[in-house]
Parts: sequence; structure tokens; C-alpha cells
Amino acid sequence: MTTFNILLAIHVLSVVWWIGGVFTVTTSLLPMFNRLPQLERIQRIQQFEGRFANQARIAVLLAGITGCWMLGISGGFARLQLAFGWWIDLMLLVWVLFALMLFVAEPLRLPAKTGLIQKPGKFLALHAALLALALAAIFCGAIGARGGF
Ligand code: HEM
Repeated sequence: MTTFNILLAIHVLSVVWWIGGVFTVTTSLLPMFNRLPQLERIQRIQQFEGRFANQARIAVLLAGITGCWMLGISGGFARLQLAFGWWIDLMLLVWVLFALMLFVAEPLRLPAKTGLIQKPGKFLALHAALLALALAAIFCGAIGARGGF
């Protein structure tokens, strides 16, 4: 067992923890909450957020640390060249978007201040778009890691 193997296992576990939560929110909880009266809907979203946001922050940090560490071990920035490392760039893009949401937008309460949380359709669409991008990163990452591209 090498350091790389252990980092990869932690990386994958973090991604499962974090994107699994995003999947549940997007495909089950938000559609369920969207049937409630507006005030109760927002309360339920914030209750869930209160429980999951810190978990997601830890998982995002773990995925980022292990990802950068593996990158360092296996070739560094040279692997990020679009022509052959685009699937790692896609992971990085997903990571940056979620980190911005979790560490900047949410602590500043931007979804509430901009009125986004009050719009059920748009709020769900944003989650669905981020989920689709994250699933694409997982799909392409699993193939890319085995030299499939
Ligand atoms: C800072 C952000 C990230 C960096 C630097 C990074 C980097 C890496 C590296 C270097 C590998 C190993 C590739 C290899 O085996 O040669 C890897 C694997 C992988 N990463 Fe990331 N990653 C990041 C974020 C993410 C995110 C956000 C996701 C998914 C949403 C993701 C999903 C995966 C998957 C599925 C694998 C392949 C696992 C396997 O089947 O072997 N990574 N990542």
C-alpha cells in the first residue's frame, strides 16, 4: 500500500460523502420541500443546511488536500495541461465552485440576500447544474485515472 493509494481512498470517500449529500438534496429533499408553504420550505432548507454544511466543508477540504497531494506526487502542474489532463481540471473546477458556495456564499448568506432561496425553481436548478458537473467529474475522473482518455 503506497501513500498515493491511501490518499486516493480518502479522496474517493470524501467525494462520496459530499456529492452523495448533494445528490440527496437535489433529487429528494428540495423537490419535497418545494411542495411546502414558502416559510416552512425555507425553514426546512436551513435546518438541513445547518446539519450538512459543516460536513460538506470537511469533505471538500479533505478532497482538496488529498487531490493536491496526489497531484504533487504524480507529476504536479504539468498534469493540468488541458490536452491530456482536462479531467483533473474538471475536478478542480467543481472543487472551486463548491468551495466558493460553502466558504463564501453561505457564510455571507448570499442565497437569502440575493433572493435566490425564495425562488424554488431557480434554487433547484442551481443545485441540479452543480450536481451534473460533479457527476461528470466523477465519471471522467474514474475513466481518466485508468488512462481511458
Ligand atoms: C482540488 C481539487 C482536486 C484535485 C487536485 C484532484 C486531483 C485528483 C488526482 C491527482 C487524482 C488521481 C488521478 C490518478 O489516479 O492518476 C484524482 C482522482 C479522482 N478524483 Fe479528484 N481531485 C480534485 C477534486 C475532485 C472532485 C471535486 C471530484 C468529484 C466531484 C473528484 C473525483 C475524483 C475521482 C472519481 C477520481 C478517480 C478515482 C479512481 O477511480 O481511481 N476529484 N483526483
